[in-house]
Amino acid sequence: MTMEQAVITWIHLVSAAIWVGGSLFIGAVISPLLKTMTTSVEERLQFMIKVGRRFNKIAIPSLIILIGTGIYNSVSFFNNPDFLLSSSYGNFLIIKIILVVALIIAYAVHVRIIRKDVEEKIISKQLSETQVQRLRKKIIILGEITMVLSVAVLFIAALLDAGA
Ligand code: HEM
Repeated sequence: MTMEQAVITWIHLVSAAIWVGGSLFIGAVISPLLKTMTTSVEERLQFMIKVGRRFNKIAIPSLIILIGTGIYNSVSFFNNPDFLLSSSYGNFLIIKIILVVALIIAYAVHVRIIRKDVEEKIISKQLSETQVQRLRKKIIILGEITMVLSVAVLFIAALLDAGA
């Protein structure tokens, strides 16, 4: 146990707290609160897009730092393919990396749905009611997938920590 290891784990944990805590806060606090404040789906979408863009300013750096510190934590195992493939710790590490890749894809699609041009179409009311609803449904499902994957990654982290 060295100070350097502790600092890396600390940065990994703070970034995980920002990433998971922040997205849960948006889903469990901001989103239901917003529903009590306006009945207009367009207004809600517009506000949530703003919240999302703001959150991305810390969420994306957190995710990048998680991956960087995660790779740092794992380099000794990457040099040892035998360990990765034949120990349960190695197997869980591979599963964790696969889940993180899936998470990045789900999040990238989630964010890409709400491109600037799409946002402008919502603001200028160029989209029909059904188009807005369909868009909203896609955004929500991808957000939920991202959340489930994030919490699953935490479970694998707990298994790794317990020396599974
Ligand atoms: C969304 C992304 C991620 C989240 C939320 C996350 C979360 C966590 C958490 C909470 C821990 C527990 C800290 C500890 O007790 O050691 C941990 C440990 C760890 N993480 Fe991550 N992590 C993420 C990405 C990654 C990636 C991409 C890698 C590898 C490339 C990685 C590799 C590790 C390793 C090796 C440990 C140490 C486990 C042990 O205690 O043996 N993590 N992670």
